[in-house]
Amino acid sequence: MPFQGHTNPMLQLGDVLHARGLAITVLHATCLSAPDPERHPEFQFVPVPDGVPDHVAASGDVLGIIHAMNAAMEADESAVLRDVLATVLGDERQPPAVCIIFDANLLAVPKAAEALGLPTLVLTTGSAACFRCLVAYPMLHEKGYLPHQETKLDMPVKELPPLRVRDLFYTPPSHQEVMKRTLARVVEAVKKSSGLLMDTFDALEIAEVQRIREELNIPLVLAAGPVNKLSSKSIGSSLLDQDFSCIEWLDQHHPESVLYVSYGSLASLDSNEFLEVAWGLANSGHPFLWVVRPDLVRGMDCPDFPNGFEAAVHSRGKVIRWAPQQEVLAHPAVGGFWTHNGWNSTLESICEGVPMMCRPQFADQTTNTRYVVNTWGVGLELDGELERGNIEKAIRKLMKEREGGEMRGRAKELKKKVGECLKDGGTAQIAIDKLVNYILSM
Ligand code: UDX
Repeated sequence: MPFQGHTNPMLQLGDVLHARGLAITVLHATCLSAPDPERHPEFQFVPVPDGVPDHVAASGDVLGIIHAMNAAMEADESAVLRDVLATVLGDERQPPAVCIIFDANLLAVPKAAEALGLPTLVLTTGSAACFRCLVAYPMLHEKGYLPHQETKLDMPVKELPPLRVRDLFYTPPSHQEVMKRTLARVVEAVKKSSGLLMDTFDALEIAEVQRIREELNIPLVLAAGPVNKLSSKSIGSSLLDQDFSCIEWLDQHHPESVLYVSYGSLASLDSNEFLEVAWGLANSGHPFLWVVRPDLVRGMDCPDFPNGFEAAVHSRGKVIRWAPQQEVLAHPAVGGFWTHNGWNSTLESICEGVPMMCRPQFADQTTNTRYVVNTWGVGLELDGELERGNIEKAIRKLMKEREGGEMRGRAKELKKKVGECLKDGGTAQIAIDKLVNYILSM
């Protein structure tokens, strides 16, 4: 799946399994950036022609790209995925393939794998709570929680505590039916598979994982994460060049003094929001490290900063195009993370004990924010208008005030739990043992 938030956990899981003695072949799409085989000499890489038209790939429309990939790969007359899989399975230079682990969004995989008698495991790159929402999607419609209605946004979803209607992922009315059909197919694919792997860990979401086990009734439902910490190669899966100069810059700052600002690989701002963010950061008086991707501002290539911004922040702020995010979050100088709450960013922040300032935009991000703020208590939400005064206040609260300090304390406690689950005999190691034994038994 050619998106950073999906490639990272998939390659990290591959790395974890490789370290336990399994051979790994990575099938990847070609329409957007592909992983760099030179960074993973231990894996075999096989490109799959994905059939996504250039204009769709260039549109940045994630759902459109996923839809086009599935449609092209599933078309009976093309059978492209099955042919690639058959070639991989028939390659006598490689050890025999025992199963395929596929991204839950790649609906073309089950049919191709079934035709070749290859068992499937599904990796979902969101949280367990998010996966529960997908399973519950028909119920959410039947009971009138969805589609979103302005008057019901604060209504608790009593079947999925602690979520309220506003925390469920938003689908525009025109896409509701397609979304219903697609999610039904995702859940069906998982039910027909040999198992579901989730990038989470027991201490974080044990109740959610347990409910999924009960609801799906399939041979294996596993909290197989946090894969970013189980994997030894945190930097190997970035699709963009990471700017390591920021680490030296962080070295010059006091512990917990810097706010790291990044909205992942897909979320974006309009030009006015960009200005408000710039001035909010500048006016906050706090050191900040801000990731401004070339496509961060809608409709602009490489946005210009407002007049006076660079002089105003001088040595207090650093702007880069793409960060080595895990190293940044692990740096002692980082005291807060302004995030869009993509699941990888959320989990990476939790793993490093960094409290969050949350500004979710779409998909599972609203659900993740609710858990960060309400369940784990390791962040605050920046809601309302994205305006410099609000931004400044929220930054101060997170970085300086008592409330932010308490969130930092809870984040550090959660980090300790991550450490526990990663130790020999910890729940994450036990989960991976179980997965490896399961794969070997196939
Ligand atoms: C998407 C969805 O938005 C997310 O909600 C879903 O759960 C997974 O796919 P994305 O929006 O890119 O992903 O966010 P996120 O899940 O946080 O993944 C971003 C990844 O890029 C993280 O692993 C992060 O470490 C990495 N990253 C981000 C960098 O390496 N450098 C950066 O500068 C920013």
